[in-house]
Amino acid sequence: MSDASERVAWLRAEITRHNDAYFVHDAPILPDADYDELVRELRRLEAAHPSPDASRSPAATVGAPPDATFQPVRHAEAMLSLDNAFDEGDLRAWAERVARSLGIDPDGLAFAVEPKIDGLALSIHYDEGVLTQAATRGDGATGEDVTANVRTVATVPSSLAAVPGRVDVRGEVFLAKSDFAELNELQRRRGDREFANPRNAAAGSLRQKNAAVTAERALSFLAYQVVDPVNVLQVTSQGALLAKLATLGFLVAAEARVVVGVDAMIAQTSWFEDHRHDLPFEVDGAVVKVDDFSLRSAVGSTSRAPRWAIARKFPPEERTTRLLTIEVSIGRTGRATPYAVLEPVVVAGSTVSMATLHNEDQVALKDLRPGDRVVVRKAGDVIPEVVGVVVDPAQDRGAPWSFPTTCPECGGPLERVGEERDTYCVNPNCPAQLLQQVVHFASRGALDIEGLGEQRAAQLIEAGLVRDVADLFSLGVADLESLDGLAAVSATALVGAVQRAKAQPLSRLLVALGVRHVGPVAARALASWFETYQQLAAAPLVELEAIDGVGPVIAASVYQFVRSPEVVERMARLRDAGVTLREPITSSIDQTLRGRAVVVTGTVPGFSREAAEAAIVERGGTSPGTVSAKTYCVVVGDAPGASKLTKARALGVPLVGADEFEALLVSGSWRATIA
Ligand code: IVH
Repeated sequence: MSDASERVAWLRAEITRHNDAYFVHDAPILPDADYDELVRELRRLEAAHPSPDASRSPAATVGAPPDATFQPVRHAEAMLSLDNAFDEGDLRAWAERVARSLGIDPDGLAFAVEPKIDGLALSIHYDEGVLTQAATRGDGATGEDVTANVRTVATVPSSLAAVPGRVDVRGEVFLAKSDFAELNELQRRRGDREFANPRNAAAGSLRQKNAAVTAERALSFLAYQVVDPVNVLQVTSQGALLAKLATLGFLVAAEARVVVGVDAMIAQTSWFEDHRHDLPFEVDGAVVKVDDFSLRSAVGSTSRAPRWAIARKFPPEERTTRLLTIEVSIGRTGRATPYAVLEPVVVAGSTVSMATLHNEDQVALKDLRPGDRVVVRKAGDVIPEVVGVVVDPAQDRGAPWSFPTTCPECGGPLERVGEERDTYCVNPNCPAQLLQQVVHFASRGALDIEGLGEQRAAQLIEAGLVRDVADLFSLGVADLESLDGLAAVSATALVGAVQRAKAQPLSRLLVALGVRHVGPVAARALASWFETYQQLAAAPLVELEAIDGVGPVIAASVYQFVRSPEVVERMARLRDAGVTLREPITSSIDQTLRGRAVVVTGTVPGFSREAAEAAIVERGGTSPGTVSAKTYCVVVGDAPGASKLTKARALGVPLVGADEFEALLVSGSWRATIA
């Protein structure tokens, strides 16, 4: 056999294996994009080397033969597939081909543009207005009888009032993203297998022997086609068909549009690409169809797909690639996070060569081993993840991966203690931890020191100039000039930026110090409660716990942090360097309510709700929507909320009349409470 015919034979067998996994077992092995690539290669080779058995090739057929579990159903009209366009050029070429065959100007042609839902195709048959049969696509000619299951789908009408004769409505069965998430949550709780994606979940739910199982799943059906629509429904275009289907009680894509001309058509497909993550269902492309049914007949179909329609496939969000190695990175708290080093692969338009693996258990759960072929997923702005391994039965795998026992940066021990999911480098002098601490200290949300990024920080540590974040403030221009790539001008700029950071408020410093569990919100709550860092450091645990916005976990973490010997020393050095250890008051208004939570219920005469809240916040207070034991007082306006009053009374929180509101703002206190 020649190389080409050997490759063709291999591709046919491989594609058949994947068809079986996808269509019969609802458990695909490969991402769609990798599968499409195999099919494209097979088509290319078959075109270049014609052979008599080409019609039996999986490239020439649709789907898979029906499963013997279900009764076969012959479709009245074949259920075809769609040809794919992968970019604007493919779309334009298709539109021009269609227009040329019709002898008309492509810019005058009307196109229906619809979402390409990632579900499974279904044909529903009505006789004299009554649902009598429903079938999957199968191999396009014969599908599987899933009538009992389809009867349980809420969005499938069981009767069509006022449509006589025989009607075949076709569309897509799918699970909305939210229903998919709920189903997998349930599967997890029951210890059952989770579904890889909404399409598989929908297919697995519909192709059930027991319709009661289907009934438990929140399947939907979206209609987009009717066999012989002109005679059956008296409509002559896709736009009119969708409108008619909606009046008959079917769900149709609300985002479908009819547009005129090639540019508008391309723009509409791009709209779907830009909004794919905002849609309630998973889409893998947009479908473009010639709108006018009489033009469709003139264009015709091949045995596999209509010539009058095309699917614009969006950049795949899942691809396979090779897992080269698994490495471990050390964070500022010493946490050791495993990550995958991948053979670079383009996913959703960007190249991915690394992906976090979170922790030891996640690697074990997915049984990832260096050398494996893995599925990588990157959806929207979400960081890339390794979904799982593509197991090739013909290939031996490497040994299971085990978490290193020593820190890759300092050689110190890595420890995982008790119930913790995470592993830590416990060497307090680990340079990798220090590097991440300095980078965090200088970052935007912390002290915001311009010019102090990871590279510069690494240089400073390497040169021995920084052993603790407090060392930053004693850096001089002369120290920095000795560093590679730092001329006098930038050295002066960096020293200036560091010196300016001394004036940052206490809340930012608290973030910069990296106190566990303390984010910007808790940092502000702490900084506005205490006048200075010294007061915060001296506060008893109960006082920390009493602050609004500071729970017991944060309080305990802060309490422990400020008492650790390294922190005591660091804070003394920061104080000596002249770092602001207080929250400066930015308002000229007296901070009479500083750190106090004042709840307002009902209307205070002379104040809108917003104005009353703003008046409290301007004076350093907060104005939460609920009463708690930490509430300073409740101001009772006209028509107050009964539940707030009841709660305040139960907790012993003072109730203050609206007539005292002005006095409260001015003095921070009241003369009398009300009962
Ligand atoms: S039209 C002959 N419209 O995509 C017309 N198909 O890859 C063929 N699909 O088999 C179908 N959304 O299962 C059409 N708005 C849409 C669709 C859609 C999803 C599916 C359908 C089809 C497959 C082809």
